[in-house]
Amino acid sequence: MSSRDQRYVELFQVGKTYPNAVGDPFTVVEEFDLIMRRGDVVSLIGHSGCGKSTVLSMVAGLNETSRGSIAIGGREISGPGPDRAVVFQAPCLMPWLTAYQNVRLGVDRVYPHATSAERHEVCEYYLAAVGLGDCLYRLPSELSGGMQQRVGIARAIALKPRLLLLDEPFGRLDSITRMELQDVILRTLDRESITTLLVTHDVDEALYMSDRVCMMTSGPRARIGQLLELPFCKPRQREAVLEHPLYYDLRACLVSFLEEQDTQRGRLQEVEFVSRIQQEVETLVENEVVRSPSPQVANSTTELAVVN
Ligand SMILES: Nc1ncnc2c1ncn2[C@@H]1O[C@H](COP(=O)(O)OP(=O)(O)O)[C@@H](O)[C@H]1O
Ligand SMILES: [Mg+2]
Repeated sequence: MSSRDQRYVELFQVGKTYPNAVGDPFTVVEEFDLIMRRGDVVSLIGHSGCGKSTVLSMVAGLNETSRGSIAIGGREISGPGPDRAVVFQAPCLMPWLTAYQNVRLGVDRVYPHATSAERHEVCEYYLAAVGLGDCLYRLPSELSGGMQQRVGIARAIALKPRLLLLDEPFGRLDSITRMELQDVILRTLDRESITTLLVTHDVDEALYMSDRVCMMTSGPRARIGQLLELPFCKPRQREAVLEHPLYYDLRACLVSFLEEQDTQRGRLQEVEFVSRIQQEVETLVENEVVRSPSPQVANSTTELAVVN
């Protein structure tokens, strides 16, 4: 593997600051460094709201970075590109188009020099690969949630992306469909060696699907807490992974990281709550809405006397 392949995707000191509800800057992600090799499947795991989708959307080029840089194949990105495809939690299909037409729409754009018959073949091939060979001409309203998500996956993979970005793609599905689609994706990734970033908050999904798990701290100012290299063989077999002698140790490592982040987040929220109450009390005292507490009750915010 060349050194460019070893550093196929490179996030260097990436940061993102959004305005919060009152317009003040709120730094969600800071000093985020990640290197992905070509063909790597990396899971990004962390608590809800820590900034996983923010990182993924910056790699997709759909969201600008506030600081740092992202390079793919040695070139810094400055927006979305045909080298990347994204699958979100909801498939966002065009409701008036059939499954086939939804896939064909992207294929027509990405394969402008192919003949119509070749493009037709590509659409059929990928819809069959996700198990929808018999449902090509059904509208989204005639498909179940899981089948619609399959169309979304076929649409993304038919574009032959070099980098596939999956943002909790099974989040809305029941556990049986979720497991089926995990296998559909894994088979496709093995066949086509697509470099993949998978956002999830499911520990077992991260272990089953990826080569490495990137654990994000809870934020604000979230970054990578730990990176775990997984020893499981490829192509993945669910039973073999579950029976691997290290599976439960690795699982315990992920769970304890997330629990620790939860505790730290709780402590941070307590400190933020107390300091906000103190600020509000100071403002009320300044505006003479309440009198300052007497020295005996100086530590209590409940003993304030309302003026008038
Ligand atoms: N466009 C935006 N404007 C302001 N704040 C945002 C925006 N998008 C996300 N956030 C905030 O950034 C934080 C991280 O969000 P997100 O990346 O969606 O987290 P995750 O995917 O890990 O659940 C959250 O606090 C969220 O409210
Ligand atoms: Mg998200």
